[in-house]
Amino acid sequence: MPRSAVIRSIGHYVPDKILTNAYFESIVDTTDEWITQRTGMKERRMVAEDQATSAIATEAAKEALARAGVDAEELDVIVCATCTPDMFFPSVACLVQRNIGAKRAGAFDVGAACAGFIHGLCVGDALVRNRNAEKVLVIGADTLTRFTDYTDRSTCILFGDGGGAVVLEGAEDTDRGILTTVLMADGNGAPHIDLEVGGTRYPAHSPLADEKRKFIYMNGNEVYRFAVKAMGDACNKALDQAGLRACDVDLFVPHQANLRIIESAAKRLGLTEDKVFVNVEKYGNTSGGSIPLGLYEAEQSGRLKQGMVVMTVGFGAGLVWGANLIRW
Ligand code: ACO
Repeated sequence: MPRSAVIRSIGHYVPDKILTNAYFESIVDTTDEWITQRTGMKERRMVAEDQATSAIATEAAKEALARAGVDAEELDVIVCATCTPDMFFPSVACLVQRNIGAKRAGAFDVGAACAGFIHGLCVGDALVRNRNAEKVLVIGADTLTRFTDYTDRSTCILFGDGGGAVVLEGAEDTDRGILTTVLMADGNGAPHIDLEVGGTRYPAHSPLADEKRKFIYMNGNEVYRFAVKAMGDACNKALDQAGLRACDVDLFVPHQANLRIIESAAKRLGLTEDKVFVNVEKYGNTSGGSIPLGLYEAEQSGRLKQGMVVMTVGFGAGLVWGANLIRW
């Protein structure tokens, strides 16, 4: 049998602080009813002042390693999917490498916004299957609240902080592992979600930065329309590549950006409600953290078991989108 990359364990981390819909009612012109109906969200988490993305990533990594019974020194590579690193450089993956004492591991970040974990898992899978690595830690972690404008009611209600991590390990003679990945992009959609200030075009110190966007900008309606189609397309392509049909999927763990988007995508794919994992009500949109957080909670709640076929799908700024099929 060919070599595959099996998910040995999964870990997660969310900060303690909870932002409820009632809190948003107190800071912007909105209601619990509007937020619940339009997004499905009830709560999101927010990092403490002294935390940044590496804190989320490190805790998720520690839990994943402990649950796998793998020592940090056994890791060959750490890949962190994030669009909200602590700083431009060093990478979050390097900070995690230091924090957990992964002395032998290479470390780098992958940037694909809310679809980051899909991309990170693809990279980890390739490293393992090509025998560049035996054990790879793949993390998805983001801290969107640091770039959220809490005076803008159309975006501030959406975002939260959190993440998850998986330990990938090479295996032969198994049907488990990452079955296939689809990665897609359309840079023409770049203006639909962006954060202008802080990069090389408008550095924070530049006089130009004052007139540019310092917080996440999103054209919600445009992204909504794109998301429903993109999720369906990526999933169908992944199923085709793997020679599977939607009815072969045991659990669908989509990016948690909006309950209505998830429901529309599931309907397009013909997936029944019992096969769709949702925790958007607890965490909001945690970007690259959302899919591993979903996988973690699905496993913890007994909905995701070894041997099941799980389909993940994500989309985000770029525009980027993609899907993984995994035999858990
Ligand atoms: N409370 C009350 N009213 C609101 C709020 C709010 N929090 N936010 C917007 N509204 C109002 C608008 O002002 C508008 O009022 P108007 O008709 O008087 O102009 C009305 O509600 C309808 O606004 P829409 O934008 O059409 O509302 P919609 O139903 O599309 O929901 C939402 C908006 C939730 C943002 C939705 O478009 C969405 O989820 N889009 C996708 C977001 C997403 O998936 N992003 C993922 C990528 S993020 C990343 O990569 C970092």
